[in-house]
Formats: sequence, C-alpha cells, structure tokens
Amino acid sequence: MNYTKTKSQKFNLKRYRKLFPVTKDYIYLNHASTGPLPIPAVKAITQLAQRYAKEGSIEWEEYEKLSNRTRQLTAKMLNVTGDEICFIQNTSQGIIIAIGTIPWQDGDNLILMQDGFPTNLYPFLYLLPNIEKRYVTSSEILADPCSITKRIDKKTKAIALDWVNFLNGIKIDLTTIGQIAKEKGIYLIIDGMQGLGATTIDLKKSYVDFFCAAAPKWLLGPHGIGILYISKKTLSHLQPFNLGWLSADWKDFYDIFTPKPLKTTAARFEPGTKNYFGIVGLQECLRLFLEIGIDKVESQIYHLTDYLISEISSSKFETITPRARSKRAGIVSFRRKDKAGQELYLKLKQNRVVVSLRQEYLRISPHFYNTIEEIEHLIKIIKD
Ligand SMILES: Cc1ncc(COP(=O)(O)O)c(C=O)c1O
Repeated sequence: MNYTKTKSQKFNLKRYRKLFPVTKDYIYLNHASTGPLPIPAVKAITQLAQRYAKEGSIEWEEYEKLSNRTRQLTAKMLNVTGDEICFIQNTSQGIIIAIGTIPWQDGDNLILMQDGFPTNLYPFLYLLPNIEKRYVTSSEILADPCSITKRIDKKTKAIALDWVNFLNGIKIDLTTIGQIAKEKGIYLIIDGMQGLGATTIDLKKSYVDFFCAAAPKWLLGPHGIGILYISKKTLSHLQPFNLGWLSADWKDFYDIFTPKPLKTTAARFEPGTKNYFGIVGLQECLRLFLEIGIDKVESQIYHLTDYLISEISSSKFETITPRARSKRAGIVSFRRKDKAGQELYLKLKQNRVVVSLRQEYLRISPHFYNTIEEIEHLIKIIKD
C-alpha cells in the first residue's frame, strides 16, 4: 500500500509510553474492551488505600475536594460546567438515570440504535415495556442523519444512540443529531463509552441532554466509576429519581436531623457515599489527557488507524469501519475473507498481540501510546 508514515505524534511518546507497563509484554490494541491503568492512576489508588490502612478514616471534606476537582477536569474535557457532571458506577447507570428522570407519558415512543451495545438497549426494554421503540442502525445514520428524522413524530420523547458503535466503529455526528433533537424538542441520550478519551468532543456545541461513559476503556481509568453529563437546561425539569441522603446540599454533619435542601446540580443524582478509589484514579487519567491534549491523542490514534486501514484495503479483507476520519474514532474492525476470525485472533494472541474478536471481526483499538511499529507487527501477522 502507498501509505506514507508522515504525521507522527506531537507529544513525547517515549515519555508517556513508560506510564503503561503493559507495553513491556504485549502489543496492546484492545482499548475498546479495557484500557490499562497508567502508573499515575495506580499510584493514586494505592496511596489512598495505604492511607485507609494507616489512618482508618479520611475527612469527608477532603473527599469532597477530590470529587469536585475531578468533576472540573471532566467538565473541561467535555467543554461544559462542573455543575452538569454526576459520577456514576458504569455507563448503564447513566442510561438508567436518564430513563428514570425523563417524564414519560402514555403513547410516547423512542428511537434506539438497533446495532448499538446492549447498555443502551436493555434498560429501555426492561424499564419502559409500554413505550414504543423505533429502531435505526448506525449505518443508516452514517448514510443520512435524516434517517432519524423519518422516525420522529409528535409522540417521540427521546433518541438514545451510541456515539461510537462498539463493533463497526462508526462515529455519529453529535452536532447534527443534537440539532434534530433540539428542533423537535426531543431528549437526546448518548452512550459515549467508545468515544470519550479517543476523540475530541465539545458538548457546548452539541445539544445533548444526557451523555454518559464509564472510565475503564478509552479513558484508561478504573472499573466502577464513570461520568454522566446532564445539560443545565435539562436539569431544571427532570423527575425525581436516584435521590438519596447525599443528594442534599450538606455543609457539614453537625446537625443531622434538620432537613437539607436538594442540590440543584447534576451531583444530586449521586445518592450516597461515592467510589473514591475510582474517582482518584479517574482524576489522574483526566489529568494525563488534559496535559497531552485530547486533540493530540486523537491525532495519534488516527495516525495509527489510517495506516492500518490502508494496509487492509485489498480485496483479501472486508473492513466494516468507515475510512474517513470524521466518521470513526479509535476502532477498526475487519475480517480476512479466506480465514476464520478465531484462527487469526488466536495467532495474534500467541504473538502477544491483544485485540478483540467480535461477531467474526477482528476489532483493533489502539491508543495514543501505541506505535506504528506495533501496527506493522500486527499487519505482518494478519497478512501471513
Ligand atoms: C458502547 C458501549 N457502552 C457501554 C459499554 C459498557 O457498559 P457498562 O459501563 O454499563 O458496563 C460498552 C462495553 O463494551 C460499550 O461498548
């Protein structure tokens, strides 16, 4: 292929690569599954655990400061305000909060992504059995965002879509879809799990009501922590749901029995004691992204995936990820037509190259600390 390895990363790759010990033993290209914890996150979690062991308890005020700092870092990453950020345990919880706080009425309908990840499907099926579901595929949206408009009528209450599809890697245009939802007065719920940390985002520009993502994939964070953005406009008219004692605006705990007012911010959907190990790990990951710059992270991921796509563009392969950068993020999925996916997957595994096998397709998902040489190694094995 005539791909020229031109634009290299605009940050000190060698330095950042050292933060990922996984690189010593593996060619790790599996961030759409799980991201390895960087050293600063490991250190911060360990230090907190050691303090627990030595001190027994840590002041609530200190935890509040940690939470608020991490909230601000999240807000910076999304270009929104800290008041619009709520910590969640996983992406599912974000979707469930959206479902519970939207004022559904009899006869409403909703639009879902048919080939989306089950996180953004099952809660709707289980929790809203009587609301009509209308389905659209990621490929239909890719071909024409108006495919959504065609499914909307006066009774459409919400649209719930995956920002980046877990299988084919298609990235939908949040600005265009947000505009459609805004014009029609429909709630827009986005599962951002396969995009956040891999590609740039500006939620101020996009009319998204709910956007959620957990930490352990592209954000490289720990399990059991994630973020839910709820826009200020949306926050003002939601139904009460997932509320608990820490949803109230406590200044201190000297007087437990006088009722305290409900927080007006998105933090009111954090009902009780938070996952501080998760938050402290996430804080370090967000710092890393903001230090390097998410635009540079994205640019390095495109640099690697452009090369991969160019190498598998022969008739020997079927690639289901779009070629254009604007239509994908960090996932590239393909199969070799003359070989079973399982065979290639095992061969890569034997050679310590970690990828995923999904529905017969090899799913490759490199991050900013991967190198062109690693992609070359992968290509050599799959072409052999
Ligand atoms: C698009 C998408 N959303 C969400 C998840 C995971 O959801 P949760 O954080 O609720 O486990 C995945 C996992 O593969 C995913 O691909």
